[in-house]
Amino acid sequence: MHRRIVIALIAPAALAAAAPAAAQDAKAGEKIFAACRACHSVVKGQNRVGPSLAGVVGRRSASVAGFNYSKAMRAKNVTWTPANLNTYLTKPSAYVPGTRMAFPGIADAKRRGDLIAYLRTLK
Ligand code: HEC
Repeated sequence: MHRRIVIALIAPAALAAAAPAAAQDAKAGEKIFAACRACHSVVKGQNRVGPSLAGVVGRRSASVAGFNYSKAMRAKNVTWTPANLNTYLTKPSAYVPGTRMAFPGIADAKRRGDLIAYLRTLK
């Protein structure tokens, strides 16, 4: 219930920020996130195979306390802006060569946009 309210509040802002690109849909993105859930929690402080993605948008890379990042990710030193996330999620191994994130990427730009709209809702 709480998560629904948060999405309802944040989704319009995400839509406004996306103009004039195709509208991005956090609800659709939540479904795409099923591909991430095996390794990532959206609960703050809950690390699994991958670090918690709570508050990931706007966060420094490799900054979750207690998570053992790869050398490659520690050296990357970027902020996870929507643009950087878009590049990373297209093909993680191309943006961060040597990353331990065993995920091939999402080729479809609309799907990445929706997914990032969902990531923006994670506080
Ligand atoms: C097979 C497990 C796995 C899957 C599936 C996976 N990840 Fe990851 N992810 C990781 C691991 C492990 C890391 C840490 C990478 C490193 O240290 O090189 C990571 C790191 C990340 C980071 C950087 C976080 C930070 O704190 O710097 C982001 C962002 C991310 N993943 C997003 C996603 C998204 C979105 C998906 C779904 C499309 C996804 N991941 C799917 C395992 C996974």
